Amino acid sequence: MRRPALMIGAGALVVVLVLVLVVVLVSRDDDDDRAEPAPAPTAGASASPPPAEAMTTVLASGFDEGDEGWQPLGDGVAVDAVQDVTRSGAGSLLVSGRSEPWHGGAVDLSGAMAQGQVHTVSAWVRLGDGAEDADVQLTLERDPGTAEPLYLHVARGTASSGDWVQLSGSAQVPEGGGQWRLYVETPESLADVRVDDVTVQRPTPAVQTDVPALRDVAAFPVGAAVGPQDLTGRPADLLLRHFDQVTAENAMKPVTVQPVEGEFDFGPMDEVLDVAVEHGLTVHGHTLVWHRSTPDWFFQAPDGRPLTSSEEDRALLRERLRTHVTALADHLAERYGDANPVTSWDVVNEALDPEEDDGLRRSRWYEVLGPDYVAEAFRVAREAFGPDVVLYLNDYDTDAPDRRRELVRLLMDLQAAGAPVDAVGHQMHVSLRTDVGRVATTLDAVAGLGLRQAVTELDVAVSDRDEQLDATPQDRLDQQGDQVRELVSAFAARDLAFVSVWGLYDTRSWLRTWPQDRPFEAPLLFDDDLQAKPAFWGFVEGSSAG
Ligand code: XIL
Repeated sequence: MRRPALMIGAGALVVVLVLVLVVVLVSRDDDDDRAEPAPAPTAGASASPPPAEAMTTVLASGFDEGDEGWQPLGDGVAVDAVQDVTRSGAGSLLVSGRSEPWHGGAVDLSGAMAQGQVHTVSAWVRLGDGAEDADVQLTLERDPGTAEPLYLHVARGTASSGDWVQLSGSAQVPEGGGQWRLYVETPESLADVRVDDVTVQRPTPAVQTDVPALRDVAAFPVGAAVGPQDLTGRPADLLLRHFDQVTAENAMKPVTVQPVEGEFDFGPMDEVLDVAVEHGLTVHGHTLVWHRSTPDWFFQAPDGRPLTSSEEDRALLRERLRTHVTALADHLAERYGDANPVTSWDVVNEALDPEEDDGLRRSRWYEVLGPDYVAEAFRVAREAFGPDVVLYLNDYDTDAPDRRRELVRLLMDLQAAGAPVDAVGHQMHVSLRTDVGRVATTLDAVAGLGLRQAVTELDVAVSDRDEQLDATPQDRLDQQGDQVRELVSAFAARDLAFVSVWGLYDTRSWLRTWPQDRPFEAPLLFDDDLQAKPAFWGFVEGSSAG
């Protein structure tokens, strides 16, 4: 159990005060009501952050997709991603059950912090309903394992139950190793705390210009999944230097686009699409029909009752599908017209389950509409987007023989039913253990059906899903380079519409927090400093091998 921050020894406190200058800013959603900045709790050398364009975001928690790796801090504390109150998007994090002031919510930042660099931290906070105003504090903690933890109190400000308040500040991260966490606590209150839109940023070296651009060496278009934090500064430099195409990592998912029935939010998606249009990138749309990232209301009657497979409920879900897809198509047509960059869509994502007789996952879509929901989704998409937009069935682990078998069966059924499926997306979340021969077998099987195909979400994990690394070993990065070379040469030898990686650089990978925290997982082509890894060179070599 960690020691309460307020009880650390005087010696440690002095170290903290000398090492850190904390800049605390407090602002409210309502700008007229801006509070005075709280006085910095210490004097000392200024730790002002570098210019914005030199910073990259190492943590961005919006809680629209669950707790995003945040953990309770203290006995009896609970952290829950909730959708009743949010500052932006679909959800926020509720920290409850606090019985000590230092109790709170924490997220692991090990592997994301750069020694000696000034990091900026920002979070929007609000207290639980009915709570009296109280200070909320953001603390960075380094636990060296062998000695006392170090606490950097990076921002503090008064929060209330009625309004979201932004806390932000900067702190220089000292030299020395250990596990890093960020946590939110209220030093003088036991109120529930809500948290949303947390970011941690750190300075990053310039993007390398002395390495080949992937888009120049590959015979196929090269894409990357991006979030809002990738569209400016150095991540944007990396994106525009190497890539032809983008997929919105989350911004086009149903939970983002239509969090509440009839209330569409195209803002996050437009941010991505505007950048694509400005720079001539194409966009692969992701995704329309999925068992995840779809708000609960989709599958509930207006009175909250779960939809059943009754005729009436089926009609309601079909209508919602059509409304959702048509609203997207209309918005794209209105905003972008002929310049619409979205050339393809993942229409149905992750439909397969080889454990089931018919090979189809028992999702809520399936439960209500039955197996025909897949064909129906393609028909709706074709009608809404027209004949020129390529419609994909997207799935993971398509190299596994049982999943390959069900994939081929589903595709043949769809073709027999006349469903307008054009292409297959292979997510390609693979590892050092993946057998490239199996990947090739699946690519050939799909080609044999006369369908187009693409690699939609490539990453190559260097650790097992339940393995905890305490650093990223160089030999695994070297093996990863070999694995990427083998994979990409299998791609280059076949006719693929594009190959996309699921994130620009390691810090941005979803595998850092899924299915558990793996702060030293490094599955992408560029490292935390946006520099080329052996995997990058494997990609370059594999591209020219085909
Ligand atoms: C992931 C995103 O990367 C995360 O940010 C989000 O929290 C959950 O979804 N297969 C998919 C993607 O089709 O949409 C998933 O993306 C990764 C697995």
